[in-house]
Amino acid sequence: MMSVKNQIEASVRNAFAKLDIDEKFAKVSVSNRPDLCDYQCNGAMGAAKSLHKAPAQIAADIAEVLSGDSIFSKVEVAGPGFINLSLSDSFFGDSLHKMDTEDNLGYDSAAKSGTIIMDYGGPNVAKPLHVGHLRSAIIGESLKRILRFTGEEVVSDIHMGDWGLQMGLIITELFERGADPCYFDEDYTGDYPKEPPFTISELEEIYPAASLRSKEDKDYYERALLATKELQEGRRGYRALLEHIMNVSVSDLKRNYERLSVEFDLWKGEADAAPYIPDMVERMKADGYAHISEGALVVDVSEESDTKEVPPCMILKSDGAALYDTTDLATLVWREEDYHPKAVIYIVDKRQQMHFTQVFRCAKKTGIVPEATQLTFLGFGTMNGKDGKPFKTRDGGVMRLSELISDINDKMYEKITENATLTGDEARQTAETVALAAIKYGDLSNQPSKDYVFDVDRFTSFEGNTGPYILYTIVRISSIIRKYNEDEAPGAVSMPASDSESIRVLMLETVRFSENIDSTVSEYAPNRLCAYIYGLCNAFNHFYHETRILAIEDEAKKASYIRLIGLVKKVLVTSIDLLGFEAPERM
Ligand code: ARG
Repeated sequence: MMSVKNQIEASVRNAFAKLDIDEKFAKVSVSNRPDLCDYQCNGAMGAAKSLHKAPAQIAADIAEVLSGDSIFSKVEVAGPGFINLSLSDSFFGDSLHKMDTEDNLGYDSAAKSGTIIMDYGGPNVAKPLHVGHLRSAIIGESLKRILRFTGEEVVSDIHMGDWGLQMGLIITELFERGADPCYFDEDYTGDYPKEPPFTISELEEIYPAASLRSKEDKDYYERALLATKELQEGRRGYRALLEHIMNVSVSDLKRNYERLSVEFDLWKGEADAAPYIPDMVERMKADGYAHISEGALVVDVSEESDTKEVPPCMILKSDGAALYDTTDLATLVWREEDYHPKAVIYIVDKRQQMHFTQVFRCAKKTGIVPEATQLTFLGFGTMNGKDGKPFKTRDGGVMRLSELISDINDKMYEKITENATLTGDEARQTAETVALAAIKYGDLSNQPSKDYVFDVDRFTSFEGNTGPYILYTIVRISSIIRKYNEDEAPGAVSMPASDSESIRVLMLETVRFSENIDSTVSEYAPNRLCAYIYGLCNAFNHFYHETRILAIEDEAKKASYIRLIGLVKKVLVTSIDLLGFEAPERM
């Protein structure tokens, strides 16, 4: 089924064609005067110039044609030539029925050709996840689900940071702390111990300690640099340590992401790109793209039209070590080989914009990916505290993701047990479900590129534009339907008539699902979907407060209301699944 907006546009286009008016003017938008109409077309104004006719006259002609279309209950010309369109009851009835009975709520999810790779998450191995990684995971997961819903084939890759200086620092620190000498003995040829020489909590403590010391101790820093380079060159003992580090951290990461309902198809990292580096570098040299500048190997990527300097892409440091640019380019090499993707979307902190500009230009220039491949950097803003500064712990440290989640869980648990229908395990579990919605919705309801304030009190509130409010609405609908089903056997019923303002608004909001999915994908903006479901919840709650659904005596009418709110619930449940969270049974 086409979205409502597209159906209306098709009808308006026909009318334009019939009257020999250029169809490019046949654009329709959601009404900015919902008190007057549902949609509007302002095309008569645009067409007037070339037709040498008064816009009001053109609008009247178009309106005349459109008024014969059963989609509309009312077609009116207003002002200098606006065409105001209102949808008819029969159109609502048909559309709502289709949404209720077709797959994917009537959204046209026909399979699209080509693969999209999504690069999000991007945790750094052996460093604790911090709130900066939260946004990437939340936005990426949601966009992946939305793209799949629209019929795209998406492969998600976590792209762990596991090839940089932090590895050399950890190796150096392990040496200092007296880890088994076999890892550091270059003459050792035997097997390495199976057990890792640390636990995850030790590992989490080792990295910050090493990082701190490297800033004060020049010799230590030099040794860490050397260890990083030797690891990259394949030194056996260091590779064995890397494997331990990976094993320990990946299982910890998996637990963390599972808690967030975030899933990846590929658990690859920078290190997986390493085998592709030598060949890639050779080709860049042979084709004349790479040259030495101040000892380092670089590729120039500046363009004449640049208004801001774009420095060269750094391929190898003077000591031959790989850099962030290098691993990202080599990652594109294997992605191209394995998937030949039509698009690669990176969901990363917007402060990395320049890095991606350089990498994308270099990848195209050197032919790592074809010119037609769409490389998209979706940079997100910072999550700030109420003070407007990056979110911190109470004592000013970097807030760990696990800490943040636990804090919100506790807060939610308090609230839920306060208003108190739930106790014990159910209360705990419900608190976790609602807390996740609070966190994710709080994030996703903002435009990705904007900084936002993570306001715990506001995000966990059951009122206003929040995750808990959305869930609360779903739970409310479930409870009405449950009560209804206790004494009625629901049969085949039609959708209700739009006999009050509040039910009409509810129906209108409901049928707008598909067009909101369209605008959400076309802008990669889950905040669009959030705004849509917030409006839908408001429309439902308004209707609910005006209508004592279960007390209605006319059984057929009551049944039709139940059918409509059942559909509203489906739309909400589907939408929050696309955002990456779910609703509890009760709350
Ligand atoms: N690990 C990086 C960081 O924490 C993010 C990785 C983003 N993805 C990429 N392909 N570079 O900043």
